Amino acid sequence: MNKLITLLFLILSLGCSNQQTGEEDRIIKHLESQLDYAVKNAESLATSELISPRTSENGKLKLVKTRDWTSGFFSGNLWMMYELTGDEKWKESALKFTLPLEQEKWNGNTHDMGFKMYCSFGQAIKYTDNPEYREILIQSAKTLSTRFNPVVGCIRSWDHNSDKWDYPVIIDNMMNLELLLWAAKETGNENFKEIAIKHAETTIKNHFRDNYSSYHVIDYNPQTGEVQHKNTHQGYADESAWSRGQAWGLYGFTMLYRETGNDEFLGQAERIADFILSQPDIKQGEIPYWDFDAPGIPDEPLDASAGAIIASALFELSTFSDKQREYVSVARNLLATLSTDKFLAPVGENEGFLLKHSTGHKPHDSEIDEPLVYADYYFLEAIIRNRAIKTKDE
Ligand code: GLY
Repeated sequence: MNKLITLLFLILSLGCSNQQTGEEDRIIKHLESQLDYAVKNAESLATSELISPRTSENGKLKLVKTRDWTSGFFSGNLWMMYELTGDEKWKESALKFTLPLEQEKWNGNTHDMGFKMYCSFGQAIKYTDNPEYREILIQSAKTLSTRFNPVVGCIRSWDHNSDKWDYPVIIDNMMNLELLLWAAKETGNENFKEIAIKHAETTIKNHFRDNYSSYHVIDYNPQTGEVQHKNTHQGYADESAWSRGQAWGLYGFTMLYRETGNDEFLGQAERIADFILSQPDIKQGEIPYWDFDAPGIPDEPLDASAGAIIASALFELSTFSDKQREYVSVARNLLATLSTDKFLAPVGENEGFLLKHSTGHKPHDSEIDEPLVYADYYFLEAIIRNRAIKTKDE
């Protein structure tokens, strides 16, 4: 049934650009109403500490502290709604959810600085001219840089599980490099860029298998830089392909190419895309299961967040690659699926999140088949990127 709806949507959208715009406008209106509800819901439950929506837990909105890795996405969603509608009220809301994150610029205990600060303040600087936000981002980049070890050639991801790993680096860490590359451009300090490039090169060397699927966690010896373990944390098995991890890799190397023009990163992104697109039905827009190798497929939870990240990344990769048509087509198929009733929450439900059916951490029995704020973030970004591609084509 879902495939039928997707197909119908595609036929309609390919056949008539007016109808396509009409359908897109209808979806954006829907998302706007839902985000309106989300803001009200978040404001009614927020405390001085719990400030940003992350997911739904036992049918209730779960808010997190600024130090949580997801704390920047909700404000990012509001900034993107401002981009999509131009309505000043979204700018006001976005600022309200962005400003409390400032203290994170000093938090050197995590690699998630990019997620937290670049998805919030990084959006804010596109739409405001407040020089303080620039300074906040530069300090954030400096703090993140302190986690780089030149012997390993990577930023350290986590400090937890020290009994298991000495120097864990996760594929997700590619996403935090955008903050450093931005800071290099802004300040002229090449050190930020060198760290980002070295981290990406080391990741190419050690994180990927022959088929360009990636491991989740690589544990290094911090004294010698030697690889000690290749593990998973959120995937099904050490040797499996955790779907969101593949999505982070695709997005990360595409972004690295955009920022550096280095062909090695474009090639890496294309090879990761080849791996992802070799998965059953993804080209037709099927949303990935939480792990591409989950043993109980088709009775496994889906991960809409992986689908949204892949869609957004493919839109960007299409602007650099010879495989433009294929990437745009797959990204549009994914977007169409995420826009069906199966994934798009009705207004006033789903605790205000836009999308249903994501999976956060299956092995820990946490956030399974729930909404996740970052699924919404990359969904909105994919809509914006699709729009830019359409405008260019017209
Ligand atoms: N960076 C954590 C996750 O993708 O769940």
